[in-house]
Amino acid sequence: MPLILCHSPKGGVGTSFIAAQLAIHLAQRGHDVSALDFTYQDSLKLYFGLTPAQGLPELNDGSADQIAVSGVALFSAYGLRRDTTFQDLLGKPDHSPFAGKKIFIADVAAGDR
Ligand SMILES: Nc1ncnc2c1ncn2[C@@H]1O[C@H](COP(=O)(O)OP(=O)(O)OP(=O)(O)O)[C@@H](O)[C@H]1O
Ligand SMILES: [Mg+2]
Repeated sequence: MPLILCHSPKGGVGTSFIAAQLAIHLAQRGHDVSALDFTYQDSLKLYFGLTPAQGLPELNDGSADQIAVSGVALFSAYGLRRDTTFQDLLGKPDHSPFAGKKIFIADVAAGDR
């Protein structure tokens, strides 16, 4: 159920590193964890040992193959950051995509508010 946003108003301070480590350690403790990259930079995956060329499935694409590293399911959520339908769902606890038992760790770009 928790959606944990990792964000800093200043870039380059280790936000993505923190998001990845938080996700990995929660997964190691037995939690069902997904890490969501909301940034254009698309660099969260690098902290899981993936390469820039390896694309992540979109969070809202149920048909895409899942990628999991260290027990953490990895998703791109860049396309959702300005999606008004998605924003509306966040405000509705019963219909929120984060209403289940999973823990979601979100890497949010420094420039996003
Ligand atoms: N714990 C750490 N120890 C040493 N260097 C680190 C650590 N965490 C991150 N770095 C380095 O600091 C730089 C920025 O890290 P990171 O990508 O996590 O920051 P960020 O805040 O997400 O940056 P951006 O604003 O570009 O998204 C990278 O070069 C990374 O290798
Ligand atoms: Mg980052």
